[in-house]
Amino acid sequence: MQKNILIKYEEIENLDVVSDLEKKIINKAISVADKAYASYSNFRVGVAVLLENDIIITGNNQENASFPCGICAERVAVFYAKSKYPDLLIKKIAITAKSEDFDISSPVGPCGLCRQVLVEYEENQRFDIEILLFNREKMIKLAKAKDLLPFYFHENKLKKL
Ligand code: THU
Repeated sequence: MQKNILIKYEEIENLDVVSDLEKKIINKAISVADKAYASYSNFRVGVAVLLENDIIITGNNQENASFPCGICAERVAVFYAKSKYPDLLIKKIAITAKSEDFDISSPVGPCGLCRQVLVEYEENQRFDIEILLFNREKMIKLAKAKDLLPFYFHENKLKKL
């Protein structure tokens, strides 16, 4: 039997129309991207996480001469948010990238590892995490992290029989 997965997302061509709160997290993601430690790739990613009580936590990618040691901006931001405020739920996450060397003319989506991390936090809260992927021209808005990763590895797989 063939089955299909439908993923809905919103494409917003004019960022002026987004809410003030979204503008705020977008601007925070843009400015934190400048502080990335990305001297090897020169691909700087900025992330802002909006928590339940409207606290905003930011993060950027951190690289290393030993390449696999690096970590993506999404995990820096989300892990910091959850380590500082373990009980606060995540409402939205805004993700952007800056680079003079690479084509960032369309918004950047998180890597598979970061998707897995986002999905597990989402699974453990009572509402979904809205994902905002944006660049200067447009924003792609997904209603939930799960939409980024169908067939993700679910924590219940690790429940012993
Ligand atoms: N990177 C992120 O920080 N987030 C993503 O979603 C994709 C990639 C980082 C990892 C590395 O430092 C650089 O961007 C190039 O891959």
